Amino acid sequence: MARQAGVRYSSPRRQGNLSDLQLYRRLLGYVLSYWYFFAFSLAGYIIYAAGNVLLADLMQFLLDALNESSDADSGIMSGLAYKLFDPQQMDPREFARIAVPLATVSLAFTRAMGFFLGTYFMSHVARHLIHQLRLQLFNTMLAAPSAYYDSHSQGVLISKITFNVEQVTGAATKALTIILRESLSVAGLLAYMLYLNWRLCLVFVAVAPFIALVVTVVGRHFRRYSRRIQASMGDVTQVSNETIGAYRDVRIFGGQQQQYERFAQASEYNRLQSLKLAFADALSTPVIQTLLALALGALVWFALSPGILQGFSAGSLVAFLTAAGQLGKPIRQLSGVQSVIQRGLAAAEDIFTQLDQERERDCGSHRAQRVRGAIRIADLSFAYPGSDAPVLRDICLDIPAGRTVALVGRSGSGKTTLVQLLLRFYNVAEGQILLDDVPIEDYDLANLRSHLAMVSQHVTLFHDTVRNNIAYGALAGATQEQVREAADSAYATAFIEQLPRGFDTVLGDDGGSLSGGQRQRIAIARAILKDAPVLILDEATSALDNESEHRIQRALDNIMRDRTTIVIAHRLSTVERADEIVVMDAGRIVARGDHAALLREGGLYAQLYHQAFAD
Ligand SMILES: Nc1ncnc2c1ncn2[C@@H]1O[C@H](COP(=O)(O)OP(=O)(O)OP(=O)(O)O)[C@@H](O)[C@H]1O
Ligand SMILES: [Mg+2]
Repeated sequence: MARQAGVRYSSPRRQGNLSDLQLYRRLLGYVLSYWYFFAFSLAGYIIYAAGNVLLADLMQFLLDALNESSDADSGIMSGLAYKLFDPQQMDPREFARIAVPLATVSLAFTRAMGFFLGTYFMSHVARHLIHQLRLQLFNTMLAAPSAYYDSHSQGVLISKITFNVEQVTGAATKALTIILRESLSVAGLLAYMLYLNWRLCLVFVAVAPFIALVVTVVGRHFRRYSRRIQASMGDVTQVSNETIGAYRDVRIFGGQQQQYERFAQASEYNRLQSLKLAFADALSTPVIQTLLALALGALVWFALSPGILQGFSAGSLVAFLTAAGQLGKPIRQLSGVQSVIQRGLAAAEDIFTQLDQERERDCGSHRAQRVRGAIRIADLSFAYPGSDAPVLRDICLDIPAGRTVALVGRSGSGKTTLVQLLLRFYNVAEGQILLDDVPIEDYDLANLRSHLAMVSQHVTLFHDTVRNNIAYGALAGATQEQVREAADSAYATAFIEQLPRGFDTVLGDDGGSLSGGQRQRIAIARAILKDAPVLILDEATSALDNESEHRIQRALDNIMRDRTTIVIAHRLSTVERADEIVVMDAGRIVARGDHAALLREGGLYAQLYHQAFAD
């Protein structure tokens, strides 16, 4: 059988591993999947930019009419008007008096329509992009392997979904709109200036490299600060998350000051970096404005030189200067939106890195309707990813279908690890686990897990009703009777009915309002309801009193009868009746047999048992 090596992992904080070009191309890929909206938006902004140019051009119409210049029809709009209406008899001023206001209003109206089209449809694209990114990000979390969660903090992951996606939102909505709209305006105005007088236009264009320099240098700083802001937001979320989750321990152990300092440190770092970003942001716009003013000054100086004035009507000159002056706004906007863009790019970079993370390996295709539940573990050794220390060594274990096997041993001996491997939370690099004689890697992952029900050592409850917590996930279709039956077997009905709304009581975050034993009983009911051929109970009754445990045990006896059961328990009285007891120590199986035989043997089991008895 082909066997792959263990999971490979990139370090959690690896960032900036995508080149800018890859980044842009990937983002563009998202945008292009909504190309029809994008096309509408583009058309809208082209109309808007053209409107801007033509409004500047109207200055020529107005001024040359006032001056009664012979070039009264030399502009774009004036030329068009003269051609269309041919006002031979009319005084140029009279004609302009009618034509210019009409043209102004209709141009402004058209420009406004363009603006609306451009903005609205660009929002369409941007909102889709964000939604899609967020869904994909969430999906990677649903499919990420356990090792991923071991190496990332919860707060940082949450901050990726909330903060980072929001950063892309800013870039996608605001920046994309401004880039498209304003750069089209810049292009239109420059083209118009070129058309009027290309030499003068070159004077203006001469400052472009300086502006580009400012933009690039500032942009690089923006990106660096944005990455740091992002990372610090992760830390802020992490500390808050932890403090909220552990508020009792924080108070009991007097950790307020410590938590406060950690939080303040993360927030302070965030403040500093944000301020640096704001500094660069605030500085770049005035610098660019000054450069533009310089260019405009030079322009006037050249424009008024006699050589240029010749063959340039006063109207055209003013139109030219108006266009040059109008360039200021879009360029300012473009440079001003840089910080948003860079923040978005830094976030996109991080999100893409997340999206590229390995998923839980799921290459098997074997599906079984219902397995018998025979488990065979052969020569299994295992170390957690990123560690060399083996946690399990040379484990060989045969569990025939329908049998109950107990795993006992000291804390940290590898019991939970073994069942996690059975559930394929980690990939086995050495040795094999077979379920019904098929290696578990050959199963389709969802199918494999459908055969296994588990009550884990750390019970998790969802923010939902008790009923939905029992009938969770694939069990959602269960009837009321089935849920109640499962709750009965888990000896949970009595306390559930005491809750304010019975089975319909909504549990708080992770069932915070329930006692430890009540939580366990809900988890047991969930596992019973699943009715899987293999049942794994990892310290499932550890939080219960002896009496409740005894009753559940009796209820479980019925359920265990026709399924394979693996019981892990420290309280050895609960495992006495297992068909076989497997004793583990430091990752190895050191003894096995039934209760009586193991006691006679007098090894670790007898030691643990007598200790419990002595207590
Ligand atoms: N996610 C993990 N990453 C790295 N090491 C781990 C991880 N989970 C557990 N370990 C280590 O593996 C060893 C076995 O842990 P495991 O949880 O299997 O013990 P256990 O027998 O279930 O103990 P207990 O009875 O206390 O539940 C321990 O030394 C533990 O530190
Ligand atoms: Mg354990």
